[in-house]
Amino acid sequence: MRTLVVGGTGMLGGVVTALANDGDHVTVLARRGWRGGSVQGRVSSLLLGYRQTGTLELALKHNGLFDRMVAWIHPDTPGAFGILQQVVTGDVLCVLGSADADPGFPARIPAAGEPREVILGFVREAGHSRWLTDAEISVGVLQALCSGEPRSVVGTVTPWSERP
Ligand SMILES: NC(=O)c1ccc[n+]([C@@H]2O[C@H](COP(=O)([O-])OP(=O)(O)OC[C@H]3O[C@@H](n4cnc5c(N)ncnc54)[C@H](OP(=O)(O)O)[C@@H]3O)[C@@H](O)[C@H]2O)c1
Repeated sequence: MRTLVVGGTGMLGGVVTALANDGDHVTVLARRGWRGGSVQGRVSSLLLGYRQTGTLELALKHNGLFDRMVAWIHPDTPGAFGILQQVVTGDVLCVLGSADADPGFPARIPAAGEPREVILGFVREAGHSRWLTDAEISVGVLQALCSGEPRSVVGTVTPWSERP
């Protein structure tokens, strides 16, 4: 399986490592290279910024197709997602921040075949709330990837008034 992880050098590092250990050939797209070791020679870096959409499109043309993609892309980057999607033949999982669960702006559940979504929520514990750790994010995103659910949440987004 050829998997593209956009933003894999940050909080999704655990996703990259786990997928590579599981046998995937993982390509990490970020401006700086992967620094998490070779992981059995199955991780490579694609040094690209997703904001320069012209450069992104050209560079991706020379990298072949991917079987699936996990993408953490800043929401103010129009165009990048569509370009990335063109080089993926199968499952696409978008990692979204908690703002995408705002009950004031209810979202549509993705239909079959559309990019799936995993929302990063928060954790309620011992009378207070906190954001997720990188490790919790990676575990939750991996679960979402394996589950096939169209839309899922890591942690919780309810009650919304208690987010940190
Ligand atoms: N709900 C929650 O609990 C929640 C939600 C979101 C974030 N967080 C926390 O907040 C921390 C910081 O979040 P973060 O957004 O900085 O995420 P991050 O995953 O730590 O870093 C962003 C990732 O995207 C890449 N990236 C950024 N801009 C890019 C660009 N223009 N082109 C290509 N790649 C780009 C970065 O690599 P390069 O810089 O090398 O390009 C990096 O791999 C995280 O560690 C996480 O723990 C928590």
